[in-house]
Amino acid sequence: MKNLIIRKALLKDKEQLLNLEQEVVEAERPFNTSIKPNDAIYYDMAKLLNDDTSHLLVAEFEGQIIATGYAQIRTSKTSLKHNEHSYLGFMYVVPEFRGLGINGQIMNILIDWSKEQGVSDLYLDVYEGNDAAIRAYEKIGFAKSMVEMKLDLEE
Ligand SMILES: CC(C)(COP(=O)(O)OP(=O)(O)OC[C@H]1O[C@@H](n2cnc3c(N)ncnc32)[C@H](O)[C@@H]1OP(=O)(O)O)[C@@H](O)C(=O)NCCC(=O)NCCS
Repeated sequence: MKNLIIRKALLKDKEQLLNLEQEVVEAERPFNTSIKPNDAIYYDMAKLLNDDTSHLLVAEFEGQIIATGYAQIRTSKTSLKHNEHSYLGFMYVVPEFRGLGINGQIMNILIDWSKEQGVSDLYLDVYEGNDAAIRAYEKIGFAKSMVEMKLDLEE
């Protein structure tokens, strides 16, 4: 897409990023009735913006952030062959720009960044039923792995 700039997120983006974080919360709300009705915070935005172990990207179109995504180097379970992995999150594209592969462009940069950090195992979480997201990730090469199961005794 012409005029689309994908760049590292900057401190000046923080307010827009916090608003977009809430869009992700709302997008996922239908998949989990336990999400708080107000003040549901998903990300440590300060860490994503400042820490060298995180790489938060934004896609900018005409001065507005229209997509986001981060990779973060995390310590892996001791049972695994790899000591560290890259965890991907904050995958969001504003509705008017969906279906154009913008998330894929962001993910490919995050995959390259992860490789540069010496990491070759990448993970992310996605709700069962979030078909557009699962499709986007499968196109990049992700395959389903662990399934989280839940029992809510109050429902
Ligand atoms: C998940 C998400 C980031 C994917 O971004 P994207 O740039 O639209 O991804 P793609 O262009 O690769 O499209 C992925 C799939 O979305 C679906 N799609 C296509 N157009 C769409 C549209 N206008 N609106 C919604 N979904 C659409 C298609 O199934 C598409 O797969 P296809 O290309 O094989 O047809 C985006 O849908 C989104 O922001 N969703 C809301 C937030 C969210 O759920 N984030 C994931 C948290 S794990």
